[in-house]
Amino acid sequence: MTDAAGIAAFIQARLPVTPVPGLPELCLHKADPASGVGRLGDAAPYWAYWWAGGLALARHLLAYPDLVVGRRVFDLGAGSGLVGIAAARAGAAHVTASEIDVHAQTAIALNAARNRVTIAAIVGDCTAGPAPDADLLLVGDVFYAPDVAARVTGFLDRCATAGVEVLVGDPWRAPLPVERMALLASYEVAEIGTARRAGVFAYRAP
Ligand SMILES: C[S@@+](CC[C@H](N)C(=O)[O-])C[C@H]1O[C@@H](n2cnc3c(N)ncnc32)[C@H](O)[C@@H]1O
Repeated sequence: MTDAAGIAAFIQARLPVTPVPGLPELCLHKADPASGVGRLGDAAPYWAYWWAGGLALARHLLAYPDLVVGRRVFDLGAGSGLVGIAAARAGAAHVTASEIDVHAQTAIALNAARNRVTIAAIVGDCTAGPAPDADLLLVGDVFYAPDVAARVTGFLDRCATAGVEVLVGDPWRAPLPVERMALLASYEVAEIGTARRAGVFAYRAP
């Protein structure tokens, strides 16, 4: 399914609005066993599920709103929009979400509206380009595969070198470039019902 209206109708009908684990003040459309999310034709509907890194980063932003208040924020690999929505709720001046998956892009718009926050722009893959026009780049659980991690690392290096602050949420997945990470905090989060610890890191350019 590729038309935005059809995708939105499917999500609204079949993916229940669910409180974010550990952040009940936010709620998102998420898949349950009856959703049949595979019918959208999405090979890997990451956006439909909880991810430990995004959960930890969202918690961190709401615990420390000074990180985002009044700032221009860019949420890379936004999935369902959780991290950008948390940034907006915490007081960001402007939030852009970046996602390669068109189903996720529709979910982000629905989830932002549901949480009464504004995601000003939803864009596709920016990782081949220069640093975005933002003060803060947020990266929730995007180091999930070696090829993706390599691409994202090159982009984050350019962003950090250009002076954009970068915060990463990740449960120490194997492709995480730990040599670039300075741990700020860690949280016990419930990913797909399973408790695990995820870190929030400041990203350092090499
Ligand atoms: C594991 S999910 C995490 C989603 C969200 N940040 C969270 O924590 O809930 C990673 C997401 O990154 C997206 N992604 C992968 N490569 C990307 C790229 N180059 N640009 C934008 N999004 C990308 C995927 O489509 C996927 O939805």
